[in-house]
Amino acid sequence: FTPEIDLHQEILELKKKKNAVLLAHFYQRPEIQEVADYVGDSLGLSQAAAKTDADIIVFAGVHFMAETAKILNPTKKVLLPDLSAGCSLADSCPPEAFRPFVKAHPEHLVVTYINCSAEIKALSDYVCTSSNALKIISAIPKTAPIIFAPDKNLGSYLIGQTGRDMLLWEGSCIVHEAFCIDKLLELYHKHPDALIIAHPESEEHILKIANYVGSTSAMITYVKRHPREKYIVATEAGILHEMQKEVPGTILIPAPAVEDNSCACSECAFMKTNTLEKTYRCLRDETPEIKVPETIAKKALVPIERMLKLSK
Ligand code: 13P
Ligand code: SF4
Repeated sequence: FTPEIDLHQEILELKKKKNAVLLAHFYQRPEIQEVADYVGDSLGLSQAAAKTDADIIVFAGVHFMAETAKILNPTKKVLLPDLSAGCSLADSCPPEAFRPFVKAHPEHLVVTYINCSAEIKALSDYVCTSSNALKIISAIPKTAPIIFAPDKNLGSYLIGQTGRDMLLWEGSCIVHEAFCIDKLLELYHKHPDALIIAHPESEEHILKIANYVGSTSAMITYVKRHPREKYIVATEAGILHEMQKEVPGTILIPAPAVEDNSCACSECAFMKTNTLEKTYRCLRDETPEIKVPETIAKKALVPIERMLKLSK
């Protein structure tokens, strides 16, 4: 691989030549976000995938996101720069365990967080993301019992917000569970003028002390609308790139993780598996491609479309 090759420029040219669109999540590496056509949260990315007229979708995100794009676009080529970009939360809900759980509660409606596999979506009545979960749950008649999967932290947050009695699946995200409350309080005491904002995949004790809880895009909107000198941000550190662009004068401090790692903050190793070079190669070679078996894709499309309709 010749080091002098300008990957950014090559990607721009390949996108044009192949009528491809590059969709990137806020947790992607900054250099990928910079070359993407759209950068957003899980809902925004599904909406962008649903309306694109490109022939090829390169999904700079994790597997379940690219899979959702493929379900929405069965005839298009959907590429993921690295197939090993998985998700601990999606993995915490294997279909062979979830199927009997759903069967054992036939009167329950199944609402699943988009961070799950296509097989799990195929077993669901509604899909939601962190930015529309309250809206989706409010659209379900109050008398209907609900199974919420796979994220137990988002689930208990939603129970608190809606007062609904929901059966929760015991899944979680390793990145959001890594925030350390003691270190966070210590940091806050050093910066008492800062506001704490957190993603609802974080544990209850983190959410309890947060001034604002929201999805990645909602957190960015919040800091834009509430100018402050400092914010402590409890979600994957990749969000800081876009957030800082929106509020250049604000000090953004990543919330500390339990164990010190190289960046002393929380990074999703799955999200960071994608690199600019892999993105270039995948666009150039049109591989690796995401495939979803037709029967599963057809079933999974129903709750995804319900979500998109309710999110307009
Ligand atoms: P949102 O971008 O929808 O807030 O989700 C965060 C996340 O964990 C994606 O994997
Ligand atoms: Fe999955 Fe957590 Fe990474 Fe999001 S941050 S992709 S939920 S492991």
